[in-house]
Amino acid sequence: MRSLDLSVDIAGLSLKTPLILASGILGLSGRLLAKISRAEGVGAVTTKSIGLKPRDGYPNPTIILLPYGLINSMGLPNPGAEAFLKELDEAEDLSSPLIASFYGYSVDEIVETARIIAKHPRVSALELNVSCPHVSGVYELGFKPELVAEAVSKVKKIIDKPLFVKLSPNTHLIVDVARAAAEAGADGLTAINTVKALAIDTELFRPILSGVYGGLSGPALKPIALRCVYEIYKEVDIPIVGCGGVSNSLDVVEFILAGASAVALGSVIAFKGVGVFRELAEGLSSYLERKGFRSVREIVGLSHR
Ligand code: SIN
Repeated sequence: MRSLDLSVDIAGLSLKTPLILASGILGLSGRLLAKISRAEGVGAVTTKSIGLKPRDGYPNPTIILLPYGLINSMGLPNPGAEAFLKELDEAEDLSSPLIASFYGYSVDEIVETARIIAKHPRVSALELNVSCPHVSGVYELGFKPELVAEAVSKVKKIIDKPLFVKLSPNTHLIVDVARAAAEAGADGLTAINTVKALAIDTELFRPILSGVYGGLSGPALKPIALRCVYEIYKEVDIPIVGCGGVSNSLDVVEFILAGASAVALGSVIAFKGVGVFRELAEGLSSYLERKGFRSVREIVGLSHR
Protein backbone atom coordinates (compact mmCIF):
# COMPACT_ATOMS: atom_id res chain seq x y z
CA MET A 1 0.00 0.00 0.00
CA ARG A 2 1.45 3.36 -0.93
CA SER A 3 2.12 5.94 1.76
CA LEU A 4 3.43 8.89 -0.24
CA ASP A 5 1.21 11.66 -1.60
CA LEU A 6 1.46 11.35 -5.40
CA SER A 7 -0.69 14.37 -6.25
CA VAL A 8 0.39 16.63 -9.10
CA ASP A 9 -0.88 19.89 -10.58
CA ILE A 10 -0.65 20.00 -14.34
CA ALA A 11 -1.90 22.79 -16.60
CA GLY A 12 -4.42 23.89 -13.98
CA LEU A 13 -5.67 20.37 -13.21
CA SER A 14 -5.19 18.79 -9.79
CA LEU A 15 -4.58 15.06 -10.08
CA LYS A 16 -4.43 12.58 -7.19
CA THR A 17 -1.70 10.71 -9.05
CA PRO A 18 0.20 11.47 -12.27
CA LEU A 19 -1.42 8.47 -14.01
CA ILE A 20 -3.95 9.24 -16.75
CA LEU A 21 -6.18 6.96 -18.81
CA ALA A 22 -4.96 7.62 -22.39
CA SER A 23 -7.38 8.51 -25.14
CA GLY A 24 -8.56 5.58 -27.22
CA ILE A 25 -8.85 3.07 -24.38
CA LEU A 26 -12.34 2.46 -22.95
CA GLY A 27 -13.22 6.12 -23.52
CA LEU A 28 -16.52 6.09 -25.42
CA SER A 29 -18.85 5.31 -22.53
CA GLY A 30 -19.57 7.99 -19.92
CA ARG A 31 -20.40 5.41 -17.28
CA LEU A 32 -17.20 3.49 -17.85
CA LEU A 33 -15.09 6.66 -17.78
CA ALA A 34 -16.68 7.58 -14.44
CA LYS A 35 -16.04 4.09 -13.07
CA ILE A 36 -12.39 4.22 -14.12
CA SER A 37 -12.05 7.70 -12.60
CA ARG A 38 -12.90 6.14 -9.22
CA ALA A 39 -10.36 3.33 -9.48
CA GLU A 40 -7.38 3.48 -7.15
CA GLY A 41 -4.32 5.15 -8.65
CA VAL A 42 -6.17 7.01 -11.40
CA GLY A 43 -5.27 10.71 -11.76
CA ALA A 44 -7.48 11.61 -14.75
CA VAL A 45 -9.37 9.96 -17.59
CA THR A 46 -9.35 10.87 -21.28
CA THR A 47 -12.21 10.17 -23.67
CA LYS A 48 -11.82 8.56 -27.05
CA SER A 49 -11.29 11.21 -29.73
CA ILE A 50 -14.54 12.93 -30.73
CA GLY A 51 -15.17 14.64 -34.07
CA LEU A 52 -17.83 17.03 -35.26
CA LYS A 53 -19.81 14.31 -37.05
CA PRO A 54 -20.36 10.63 -36.22
CA ARG A 55 -17.78 8.24 -37.68
CA ASP A 56 -18.07 4.46 -37.95
CA GLY A 57 -14.37 3.72 -38.01
CA TYR A 58 -12.91 0.87 -40.05
CA PRO A 59 -14.38 -2.63 -40.34
CA ASN A 60 -12.49 -5.55 -38.78
CA PRO A 61 -9.70 -6.47 -38.54
CA THR A 62 -8.69 -3.37 -36.58
CA ILE A 63 -6.18 -4.76 -34.08
CA ILE A 64 -3.11 -6.96 -34.47
CA LEU A 65 -1.36 -8.34 -31.39
CA LEU A 66 2.42 -8.52 -31.60
CA PRO A 67 4.98 -9.94 -29.17
CA TYR A 68 6.10 -6.37 -28.34
CA GLY A 69 2.84 -4.40 -28.49
CA LEU A 70 -0.10 -3.99 -30.81
CA ILE A 71 -1.13 -2.20 -33.96
CA ASN A 72 -4.57 -0.58 -33.93
CA SER A 73 -6.49 0.87 -36.80
CA MET A 74 -9.83 1.74 -35.27
CA GLY A 75 -10.33 4.71 -37.58
CA LEU A 76 -11.61 7.13 -34.94
CA PRO A 77 -15.08 5.60 -34.41
CA ASN A 78 -17.21 8.01 -32.38
CA PRO A 79 -20.80 9.27 -32.18
CA GLY A 80 -19.99 12.92 -33.00
CA ALA A 81 -19.73 15.86 -30.63
CA GLU A 82 -23.42 16.60 -29.96
CA ALA A 83 -24.28 12.94 -29.29
CA PHE A 84 -21.23 12.57 -27.06
CA LEU A 85 -22.58 15.28 -24.73
CA LYS A 86 -25.34 12.80 -23.79
CA GLU A 87 -22.66 10.22 -22.99
CA LEU A 88 -20.98 12.77 -20.70
CA ASP A 89 -24.32 13.27 -18.92
CA GLU A 90 -24.01 9.61 -17.90
CA ALA A 91 -20.53 10.11 -16.38
CA GLU A 92 -21.87 10.52 -12.85
CA ASP A 93 -19.65 10.62 -9.75
CA LEU A 94 -16.42 11.33 -11.57
CA SER A 95 -13.71 11.39 -8.95
CA SER A 96 -10.87 12.50 -11.24
CA PRO A 97 -10.76 15.18 -13.95
CA LEU A 98 -12.12 14.19 -17.35
CA ILE A 99 -10.13 15.27 -20.41
CA ALA A 100 -12.11 15.33 -23.66
CA SER A 101 -10.05 14.31 -26.69
CA PHE A 102 -11.18 15.74 -30.01
CA TYR A 103 -10.10 16.08 -33.63
CA GLY A 104 -11.11 17.74 -36.88
CA TYR A 105 -10.23 17.71 -40.57
CA SER A 106 -9.69 21.47 -40.68
CA VAL A 107 -9.08 24.30 -38.26
CA ASP A 108 -12.73 25.40 -38.54
CA GLU A 109 -13.94 21.90 -37.69
CA ILE A 110 -11.54 21.67 -34.75
CA VAL A 111 -12.83 24.97 -33.38
CA GLU A 112 -16.48 23.97 -33.81
CA THR A 113 -15.93 20.61 -32.11
CA ALA A 114 -14.10 22.27 -29.21
CA ARG A 115 -16.96 24.75 -28.82
CA ILE A 116 -19.47 21.91 -28.45
CA ILE A 117 -17.60 19.62 -26.06
CA ALA A 118 -15.97 22.27 -23.87
CA LYS A 119 -19.35 23.52 -22.68
CA HIS A 120 -20.13 20.27 -20.86
CA PRO A 121 -19.59 20.85 -17.12
CA ARG A 122 -17.99 17.41 -16.68
CA VAL A 123 -15.17 18.29 -19.10
CA SER A 124 -12.20 19.60 -17.11
CA ALA A 125 -9.79 19.97 -20.05
CA LEU A 126 -9.52 19.26 -23.78
CA GLU A 127 -6.90 17.31 -25.72
CA LEU A 128 -6.57 18.14 -29.41
CA ASN A 129 -5.63 15.03 -31.37
CA VAL A 130 -3.68 16.07 -34.47
CA SER A 131 -1.83 12.78 -34.67
CA CYS A 132 -4.03 9.74 -35.43
CA PRO A 133 -1.70 7.97 -37.87
CA HIS A 134 -4.30 6.12 -39.92
CA VAL A 135 -6.99 8.70 -40.62
CA SER A 136 -6.05 10.83 -43.56
CA GLY A 137 -6.78 14.52 -43.04
CA VAL A 138 -6.26 14.34 -39.27
CA TYR A 139 -2.81 12.81 -39.58
CA GLU A 140 -1.28 15.50 -41.81
CA LEU A 141 -2.47 18.39 -39.63
CA GLY A 142 -0.08 17.42 -36.91
CA PHE A 143 2.93 17.78 -39.20
CA LYS A 144 2.30 21.48 -39.78
CA PRO A 145 3.40 23.77 -36.93
CA GLU A 146 1.59 26.78 -38.40
CA LEU A 147 -1.74 24.94 -38.71
CA VAL A 148 -1.48 23.53 -35.19
CA ALA A 149 -0.71 27.04 -33.90
CA GLU A 150 -3.73 28.46 -35.74
CA ALA A 151 -6.02 25.74 -34.35
CA VAL A 152 -4.72 26.19 -30.80
CA SER A 153 -5.03 29.94 -30.76
CA LYS A 154 -8.56 29.86 -32.20
CA VAL A 155 -9.67 27.16 -29.76
CA LYS A 156 -8.14 28.99 -26.80
CA LYS A 157 -10.14 32.09 -27.71
CA ILE A 158 -13.44 30.27 -27.31
CA ILE A 159 -12.85 27.91 -24.36
CA ASP A 160 -12.00 28.66 -20.75
CA LYS A 161 -10.52 25.24 -19.96
CA PRO A 162 -6.96 23.90 -20.27
CA LEU A 163 -5.99 22.64 -23.74
CA PHE A 164 -3.49 19.86 -24.38
CA VAL A 165 -2.21 18.93 -27.85
CA LYS A 166 -1.43 15.28 -28.61
CA LEU A 167 1.64 15.16 -30.82
CA SER A 168 2.64 12.84 -33.63
CA PRO A 169 5.95 10.97 -33.54
CA ASN A 170 5.65 10.44 -37.29
CA THR A 171 7.39 13.68 -38.15
CA HIS A 172 10.89 14.99 -37.56
CA LEU A 173 9.17 18.29 -36.70
CA ILE A 174 7.71 17.11 -33.39
CA VAL A 175 9.62 19.71 -31.35
CA ASP A 176 8.62 22.47 -33.79
CA VAL A 177 4.98 21.42 -33.57
CA ALA A 178 5.25 21.33 -29.76
CA ARG A 179 6.81 24.80 -29.68
CA ALA A 180 4.19 26.21 -32.06
CA ALA A 181 1.39 24.80 -29.91
CA ALA A 182 2.92 26.25 -26.74
CA GLU A 183 3.49 29.68 -28.28
CA ALA A 184 -0.11 29.71 -29.52
CA GLY A 185 -1.39 29.19 -25.98
CA ALA A 186 -1.63 25.42 -25.40
CA ASP A 187 -1.54 24.60 -21.69
CA GLY A 188 0.07 21.18 -22.08
CA LEU A 189 1.35 18.60 -24.57
CA THR A 190 0.74 14.87 -24.77
CA ALA A 191 3.70 13.02 -26.23
CA ILE A 192 3.15 10.80 -28.13
CA ASN A 193 0.44 9.23 -30.27
CA THR A 194 1.17 5.88 -31.93
CA VAL A 195 3.77 5.27 -34.65
CA LYS A 196 2.36 4.62 -38.13
CA ALA A 197 2.73 0.91 -38.83
CA LEU A 198 1.80 -1.91 -41.21
CA ALA A 199 1.39 -5.69 -41.13
CA ILE A 200 1.06 -7.96 -44.19
CA ASP A 201 -0.76 -11.29 -44.52
CA THR A 202 1.80 -13.56 -46.17
CA GLU A 203 -0.84 -16.07 -47.30
CA LEU A 204 -3.15 -13.52 -48.91
CA PHE A 205 -0.38 -11.15 -50.05
CA ARG A 206 -2.09 -8.03 -48.71
CA PRO A 207 -2.14 -5.71 -45.69
CA ILE A 208 -3.99 -7.30 -42.75
CA LEU A 209 -5.77 -4.23 -41.39
CA SER A 210 -8.82 -3.04 -43.27
CA GLY A 211 -7.55 0.53 -42.84
CA VAL A 212 -4.18 -0.68 -44.26
CA TYR A 213 -2.11 1.40 -41.81
CA GLY A 214 -2.36 1.34 -38.05
CA GLY A 215 -0.66 2.83 -35.01
CA LEU A 216 1.96 0.85 -33.09
CA SER A 217 1.61 1.04 -29.29
CA GLY A 218 2.88 -1.02 -26.36
CA PRO A 219 6.42 -1.68 -25.11
CA ALA A 220 8.07 -1.22 -28.54
CA LEU A 221 6.91 2.42 -28.49
CA LYS A 222 8.42 3.37 -25.14
CA PRO A 223 11.97 4.32 -26.15
CA ILE A 224 10.62 6.47 -28.99
CA ALA A 225 8.09 8.19 -26.72
CA LEU A 226 10.74 8.75 -24.07
CA ARG A 227 13.09 10.34 -26.61
CA CYS A 228 10.29 12.66 -27.77
CA VAL A 229 9.43 13.75 -24.21
CA TYR A 230 13.13 14.36 -23.49
CA GLU A 231 13.60 16.47 -26.64
CA ILE A 232 10.43 18.50 -26.08
CA TYR A 233 11.21 19.17 -22.41
CA LYS A 234 14.55 20.68 -23.42
CA GLU A 235 12.94 23.19 -25.78
CA VAL A 236 9.37 23.86 -24.66
CA ASP A 237 8.26 25.19 -21.30
CA ILE A 238 4.74 23.82 -20.77
CA PRO A 239 3.78 20.59 -18.98
CA ILE A 240 4.07 17.30 -20.85
CA VAL A 241 1.98 14.15 -20.45
CA GLY A 242 4.23 11.24 -21.43
CA CYS A 243 2.45 8.49 -23.34
CA GLY A 244 3.67 5.37 -25.09
CA GLY A 245 4.43 1.83 -24.05
CA VAL A 246 4.35 2.09 -20.28
CA SER A 247 4.12 -1.35 -18.73
CA ASN A 248 5.62 -1.01 -15.26
CA SER A 249 6.31 1.62 -12.61
CA LEU A 250 9.92 2.19 -13.66
CA ASP A 251 8.62 3.10 -17.14
CA VAL A 252 6.53 5.78 -15.40
CA VAL A 253 9.61 6.97 -13.52
CA GLU A 254 11.61 7.14 -16.76
CA PHE A 255 8.98 9.36 -18.40
CA ILE A 256 8.95 11.72 -15.41
CA LEU A 257 12.75 11.88 -15.29
CA ALA A 258 12.68 12.69 -19.04
CA GLY A 259 10.39 15.67 -18.35
CA ALA A 260 6.79 14.44 -18.13
CA SER A 261 4.63 15.88 -15.33
CA ALA A 262 2.09 13.08 -15.80
CA VAL A 263 1.98 9.78 -17.70
CA ALA A 264 -0.85 8.30 -19.75
CA LEU A 265 -1.55 4.55 -19.86
CA GLY A 266 -2.96 2.92 -22.97
CA SER A 267 -2.18 -0.58 -24.24
CA VAL A 268 -1.11 -1.82 -20.80
CA ILE A 269 -4.76 -1.56 -19.71
CA ALA A 270 -5.74 -3.97 -22.49
CA PHE A 271 -3.21 -6.47 -21.12
CA LYS A 272 -3.47 -5.94 -17.35
CA GLY A 273 -6.85 -4.28 -16.73
CA VAL A 274 -7.66 -1.14 -14.74
CA GLY A 275 -5.92 -2.55 -11.62
CA VAL A 276 -2.65 -1.53 -13.28
CA PHE A 277 -3.20 2.08 -12.09
CA ARG A 278 -2.93 0.98 -8.48
CA GLU A 279 0.08 -1.26 -9.23
CA LEU A 280 1.95 1.56 -10.95
CA ALA A 281 1.02 4.16 -8.32
CA GLU A 282 2.38 1.87 -5.61
CA GLY A 283 5.55 1.23 -7.59
CA LEU A 284 6.06 4.96 -8.18
CA SER A 285 5.55 5.68 -4.50
CA SER A 286 8.05 2.97 -3.47
CA TYR A 287 10.61 4.34 -5.94
CA LEU A 288 10.27 7.90 -4.57
CA GLU A 289 10.59 6.68 -0.97
CA ARG A 290 13.58 4.47 -1.77
CA LYS A 291 15.36 7.39 -3.43
CA GLY A 292 14.47 9.85 -0.66
CA PHE A 293 12.06 12.10 -2.57
CA ARG A 294 8.84 13.48 -1.09
CA SER A 295 6.89 14.33 -4.23
CA VAL A 296 6.59 13.53 -7.92
CA ARG A 297 7.39 17.17 -8.72
CA GLU A 298 10.95 16.77 -7.39
CA ILE A 299 11.88 14.33 -10.16
CA VAL A 300 10.23 15.97 -13.21
CA GLY A 301 12.99 16.43 -15.78
CA LEU A 302 15.71 15.30 -13.36
CA SER A 303 17.59 13.41 -16.07
CA HIS A 304 18.43 16.76 -17.75
CA ARG A 305 20.52 18.04 -14.83
C1 SIN B 1 -8.53 5.54 -33.17
O1 SIN B 1 -9.51 5.68 -32.45
O2 SIN B 1 -8.67 5.27 -34.35
C2 SIN B 1 -7.15 5.78 -32.63
C3 SIN B 1 -6.97 7.19 -32.26
C4 SIN B 1 -5.58 7.69 -32.50
O3 SIN B 1 -4.67 6.92 -32.83
O4 SIN B 1 -5.37 8.91 -32.38
